[in-house]
Amino acid sequence: MLAEAIKTYQKRVDAILEQHLNQLDDAAPNLKAAMLHGALLGGKRIRPFLVYAVGNMFSVNVNALDKAAAAIECIHAYSLIHDDLPAMDNDALRRGQPTVHIAFDEATAILAGDALQTLAFEIMTSISDDLTPTQQLAMVRVLAKAAGYQGMCGGQAIDLSATNHSIDLQRLTELHNKKTGALISCAVEMALIAANAPAEQYQLMMQYAQALGLAFQVQDDILDITASTEELGKPQGSDEQSNKSTFPKLLGLDGAKACAEQLIQDALSALTKLPYNSQLIADFARYIIERRL
Ligand code: IPE
Ligand code: IPE
Ligand code: MG
Ligand code: MG
Ligand code: MG
Repeated sequence: MLAEAIKTYQKRVDAILEQHLNQLDDAAPNLKAAMLHGALLGGKRIRPFLVYAVGNMFSVNVNALDKAAAAIECIHAYSLIHDDLPAMDNDALRRGQPTVHIAFDEATAILAGDALQTLAFEIMTSISDDLTPTQQLAMVRVLAKAAGYQGMCGGQAIDLSATNHSIDLQRLTELHNKKTGALISCAVEMALIAANAPAEQYQLMMQYAQALGLAFQVQDDILDITASTEELGKPQGSDEQSNKSTFPKLLGLDGAKACAEQLIQDALSALTKLPYNSQLIADFARYIIERRL
């Protein structure tokens, strides 16, 4: 059931992304091609999945979730394009394809990331039959916050400053919460906004989201060591090679695995307090730390 739901929502968000990208004019064909490359070639679409699965759990009409699902994937795609740049992680492979700066060039990759980021907000603010302007505004706000200084960009800056330097567990947790957890939490939060979820349920869902988001990056660190380049579609050992601060480096591989497991237990325990059938997102939490990609 989880695999099926993941596939269904993947297809749904891909169709929306394709539509938005293909309808761009051809004034800058190279930039457009780079955006298509960075956004549409592969990717698990786990952030859109969370938007849809959480929204569905709260009985939100699926149409009301499309903008948030597409917008958050645009932000994510942009973050990956920039993450791979020579000035950042300097990686040549992503989703089994050459990274955008390799397939095109660095300047085009920078612009493709920039344009995907602004496309996210164009999508999020277009007229909606399914959301109130107040809901759209709230979604824009949480998305901007999760993507910027207080979220992903801030986390990436800490990541860079922690390269070739050791940091303690508290600082590494902050790094991971910001660079990856923030956007994952945001996916859940946008669905809660669409649902007008009551405060207590909102809070429990955000506990789930925050634990899941951190676990996701801990597992990403683990996979950098334990999965192959073929499985990952990105270079195995990239963290080690760049001397990054990671959970396995600080806690050992077994320590990092135990930490991820504990985070998933925390996520699941928040769900048990909700008066909904949360089976799908509970299964998803397990998948996050069992995945090989
Ligand atoms: C990779 O994210 C970067 C991190 C934030 C860890 P994903 O593992 O979601 O990448 P795709 O979208 O499936 O390629
Ligand atoms: C990336 O973390 C987080 C982002 C904000 C993109 P990583 O640098 O570990 O992601 P991968 O392993 O390259 O996908
Ligand atoms: Mg990185
Ligand atoms: Mg990277
Ligand atoms: Mg990684």
